[in-house]
This record gives sequence, C-alpha cells and structure tokens, in this order.
Amino acid sequence: MILDRFRLDGRVALVTGAGRGIGRGIAQAYAEAGADVVVAARTVSAIEETAEQVRERGGRALAVPCDVLERPDLENLVAETVSQMGRLDVLVNNAGGWPPKPALRTSEREFEAAFRFNVTTAFLLTRFAAPHLASGGAGAIVNVSSAAGRLAQPGFAAYGTAKAALSFLTRNLAAEFAPKVRVNAIAVGSVETEALGTILNDELRATMESLTPMGRIGTVEDIAACALYLASPAGGWVTGKLFEVDGGTEATNFRMPQADL
Ligand SMILES: NC(=O)c1ccc[n+]([C@@H]2O[C@H](COP(=O)([O-])OP(=O)(O)OC[C@H]3O[C@@H](n4cnc5c(N)ncnc54)[C@H](OP(=O)(O)O)[C@@H]3O)[C@@H](O)[C@H]2O)c1
Repeated sequence: MILDRFRLDGRVALVTGAGRGIGRGIAQAYAEAGADVVVAARTVSAIEETAEQVRERGGRALAVPCDVLERPDLENLVAETVSQMGRLDVLVNNAGGWPPKPALRTSEREFEAAFRFNVTTAFLLTRFAAPHLASGGAGAIVNVSSAAGRLAQPGFAAYGTAKAALSFLTRNLAAEFAPKVRVNAIAVGSVETEALGTILNDELRATMESLTPMGRIGTVEDIAACALYLASPAGGWVTGKLFEVDGGTEATNFRMPQADL
C-alpha cells in the first residue's frame, strides 16, 4: 500500500522549536504516522504540552529543554534522545527565524546572529546527530528554510541570506551523507503561526492573500505533510532537494520599502 510508505513506525524523530507553530505541527504529524518524538525548545511548559499531544497520538514522547544557541544544550539533546529513546532516525532543524529589517539598519551583530540562529545551530546539531542517524539505516534530516531564502526582496538581507545558506547547506550535506542519511529542506511560505502573528494585521493578511496564488496563508499542516514525506520511506529516493511549500508564491507577498540611498 502506498500510504504505508508514509509510516514512521519504530522510528525516533527529534524536532527543534517544537513548543508551538510549525515544529509542533511536525511533531504531531510524525506521531500520527507512528513515530516516537523528542521535542525541544526553551519553554518547558510548551514542550511538555507538545509531548502530551504526541502521547495522545500513540507515540512515546520526550520533552528536552534546549536553547539551540547553546552548544552544550545541543550535545545534551542528542545524548538524551539516544539514552532515553534508544535511537535517532529523523532530525528536523526547525528552530530559527528573524524579523525583517532594512539592510542599512541591520548591524553586523544582528546579521551574524541571524546566521547563527538559522544556519550554525542546524549545522552543529546535524554534526552531533549524524552518526546516530546513519546507524539506524533510514536516517533523514529535514531543514525548515524559507521562501525568503530564494526570493530577493527588500528587508530580508539577514534572514533571507541566512535561510539561503541553510538551503545550500542542505544540498552540500546531502552530497556528503548519501546514501546513509538523506538531507532535504522545505522553503516555507507565509504560515499562520505566532512568529508571523507578530507582524500580521487584517490589512497585511489581505495583501498577502491577494499576492499568494493559492489565495490563503499556509497552515502548519501544509508544512507537516511535506516534512512527513521527506522523513518517511515515501521520500526514500529524495535527497539534497528544496521543497517550495508556499501556496505557489513566485514573488514577495510582503513588501518592505527600498533603501533611501
Ligand atoms: N511562520 C512562517 O510564516 C514561516 C515562514 C518561513 C519560514 N519559517 C520558519 O519556520 C520555523 C518555525 O517558525 P514558526 O513560525 O513555527 O515559529 P514560532 O511559532 O515562533 O515557533 C518557534 C519555536 O521555536 C522555539 N525557539 C525559539 N527560539 C529558540 C531557541 N533559541 N532554541 C530552541 N528553540 C527555540 C520556540 O519556543 P521557545 O521560545 O520556548 O524556545 C517555538 O517552539 C523557523 O525556522 C522559521 O524561520 C516560518
């Protein structure tokens, strides 16, 4: 049965930024597909809640407090996963983000911090996880990138450049880790989460919807469905690819002003 290929029975998945939003949606989807899920973020109550949702769906769950910006937290996250769950098959590097800001008002420190949050943390966690992902025989990494990493637009010098780097890191690591570990990324369009909610008002929503060919903002389930394909045997012949899940967006749906030079 083709749907059986989307199952993750017996697999252990680790999702960063799983306390809410896209990360929580992916954790729920993986649990529904039969996986045990390790959920990581900084806020303990939020990851405990996601862990409970995983258990309600029949999976084992482990909530591990983790700030991805802290290297010891990343090492501990992998160590806890392997010692308590026994294996690690799927890594989702989802924690990330950065607000749009004009390039000329973006400091060197902010530019480097955006890169560290979106790229370096995923690279480091991948390094710690890779040997375990390889030993299970079905290793998969899903990097949560952004449409901002492929569409040139004002206001996204830091975030867009960082996500473009994450997307290319995906291709480089896929070449290096094949055939034991597959590495893919999702170029996520505008999705209804708290992160987007910080800038979304009625007027902006209407503009974004009118500039999105599919006529709506995305849901976490839209992204989770792709993340499940990429993590499961259904995506077993796919590596080094960037999946654009964005309602058909080919140009920015969020217009920031050009620089006043
Ligand atoms: N929503 C969109 O429209 C959109 C579009 C394109 C790409 N994306 C990407 O999708 C990913 C998830 O975004 P989202 O919209 O789901 O965000 P969100 O709703 O704000 O959720 C972010 C999650 O990451 C956790 N987190 C934040 N900082 C962290 C840190 N230093 N260490 C560990 N966990 C941390 C948060 O929990 P704590 O604060 O408790 O740690 C939370 O669980 C990001 O990589 C983002 O760039 C989102």
